[in-house]
Amino acid sequence: MSIRFIEGEQRWVLQTEDMDYVIGIDAWGRLEHEYWGPRLASQADYAALAEVKPFRSFEDVRGMSREEIMPWHRLLHADPGLKLTFGDGTRDLVLAYDGHSVQGGELRIEMVDRLKQVRVRLNYRVQEKYDLLERWVELVNESEEEVRVERMMGAIWHLPERGNYRLTHLTGHWGAEMQLRQNGLSEGKTVLEERRGLTGHQSNPWFAVDFGDADETSGEVYFGAVAYSGHWSIMAEKSPYGFLQVGAGYSSFDFAWTLAPGESLVSPVCIGGYTRGGFGQMSRMLHDYQRERVSDRGAEALPVLYNSWEAAYFDVDERSQMELADIAAKIGIELFVMDDGWFAGRNGDKAGLGDWTPDPVKFPNGLAPLIDHVHGLGMRFGLWVEPEMTNADSDLYRKHPDWVYHYPDRERTESRNQMVLNLARSDVREFVFDSVDRLLCEYDIDYIKWDMNRYISEPGWPGQPAERQKEIWLRHVNTLYEIWRRLRAKHPRVSFESCAGGGGRVDLGIMRYSDQFWITDNTDPYDRLFQQEGYSYAYTTKQMRAWVTESPHGLNRRSASLKYRFHSAMAGALGIGLNLRHAGDEELEECRQWIERYKALRPVIQEGDLYRLLSPRAGDVSAVQYTAKDRGVAVVFLYLHAQRFSRPCPLVRLQGLEPAARYRCEQTGAVRSGSAWMAAGLRPELRGDYDSAMFTLAREENA
Ligand code: DGJ
Repeated sequence: MSIRFIEGEQRWVLQTEDMDYVIGIDAWGRLEHEYWGPRLASQADYAALAEVKPFRSFEDVRGMSREEIMPWHRLLHADPGLKLTFGDGTRDLVLAYDGHSVQGGELRIEMVDRLKQVRVRLNYRVQEKYDLLERWVELVNESEEEVRVERMMGAIWHLPERGNYRLTHLTGHWGAEMQLRQNGLSEGKTVLEERRGLTGHQSNPWFAVDFGDADETSGEVYFGAVAYSGHWSIMAEKSPYGFLQVGAGYSSFDFAWTLAPGESLVSPVCIGGYTRGGFGQMSRMLHDYQRERVSDRGAEALPVLYNSWEAAYFDVDERSQMELADIAAKIGIELFVMDDGWFAGRNGDKAGLGDWTPDPVKFPNGLAPLIDHVHGLGMRFGLWVEPEMTNADSDLYRKHPDWVYHYPDRERTESRNQMVLNLARSDVREFVFDSVDRLLCEYDIDYIKWDMNRYISEPGWPGQPAERQKEIWLRHVNTLYEIWRRLRAKHPRVSFESCAGGGGRVDLGIMRYSDQFWITDNTDPYDRLFQQEGYSYAYTTKQMRAWVTESPHGLNRRSASLKYRFHSAMAGALGIGLNLRHAGDEELEECRQWIERYKALRPVIQEGDLYRLLSPRAGDVSAVQYTAKDRGVAVVFLYLHAQRFSRPCPLVRLQGLEPAARYRCEQTGAVRSGSAWMAAGLRPELRGDYDSAMFTLAREENA
């Protein structure tokens, strides 16, 4: 049983395979966090958890509490999880326990402020197999008057008291998203958040905290994520007494939400987990959870795709796309995606967004001839759209200039020459849904790449009361989810890719609707190693689209062999963005062979366990390994950045094999026990700059 209520003690124990999470009710009737960590041996251990708080002058014990959701009230001065303003100016929220229910793997605890008639429901879902908890909060206004919500977190995570907290998180910018950072946490607040209207290039809603001593293979790691695609915040606050709390939920920047009588507001779902197996185990738990619980596509393989963007940019038309498709089919591509440039007036990034009909010059007979051609070649067909946007130079904007976020008298700032549609409006919501729905009804489209290429500015919603206009941050994201939900329900066969100018929309919220992510516009195979590593800390590489593109690379002019480019991209969901019309026969044949190889190894790469053997941040050689769940096959990719004379490649010790089984390396013919591959390792012969290798190991079944 994963959720237990210990009657006499007024205490809940949430248990996973390797973790206990304990909540109690304190002397003042508040919900107190008591424990989070490895499983405890007996029930008596839980009773001993309720601690007597030490006396600290100036700090009333009631202000030192580690409440599960930390409503702002009385002497609580740590960062609150909930902050409300009532009509009479009261800003205190005093919650008392009001019952609970357990259903399946879910616990719901009810709390009320009896004076103000506000109900708070704390929901917990136990994901036993993955040592994870999902948490979210629902706030219900049961009073007769409006209530203003000014802060709402879905979780406050209280970490055990250990001085040395170290935060691991992802940062970056366009073209360099998902850069991993580790910093010690000092007293005070460290805030990761996004205030631009999408998940963000600069920060990603995921974190891990260890005690300065965890590595890939060992050590305690606490970690979490916010399943939300914009206006999120993760706030780590270390008190001078050494406690650490991490709040996760909506950003409170420019945030306000008015709850009319009877209305409710739900926080994002927040994920929290614990492991003793280091960062590697943390990632594998998250990957399994995402593949098995978040994504609804199960073990369906991601097809090898071709995308026209880097080959053609806006210069697409029926003839040239058909030519690309002909070659793509010959090298084994399974999904052909036509990117930007196909719709009316779209000859660059200055016009067309909002007018979702095929350009009559480029596609005089609509998209059907191209789609039929692609299908006739045995491939699926995908189409790029950016439905949340409009250009000033579009029929849509000429007809509905009031449909974008704006303030009445201010300039509407354009970015990439475009403006953001106000999804809080119901007419805009229906327009956006219809635009994509119409395309999917009219054409036999198998795949939608949904892009978003700017941040929100001037977040005004004219016609609404000033305070309510601040709701657009949440309304935009929630409406987006609703649209994706409806589209998927109506077109269940269609796959979706989440993209926002590269990796601006990668998170567990959109993962419920999107089958794959575009994580960066930087397709340079070496830069990608860093991004792929950072991404893999938090997200499954099954859904990480990675393309092989031209060399020298357009962004940094780096030259790399086709082999190196394939090895880099094969560590995720392989795609090709080469200009195939310029490729010679030899190059195409090499592509064909790599694609064939990838398809054979795809079940291991997409569904297996990932081991980060050597980090690109740590030295000149980096390596990742994928191992099938039954440990019968392993695939290892190794990358040399730059060789230095007399420095041999380091030994690469494999992981996750069966120690006693014998494994044959396909490339060298060597047969060794799993324990030998893991302890003695292999030494790749990589030479020069940007060299790479791939090794596959198969278990000898009758050894
Ligand atoms: C940004 C995306 O990340 C690219 O892959 C491409 O789709 C362009 N937008 C198209 O405008």
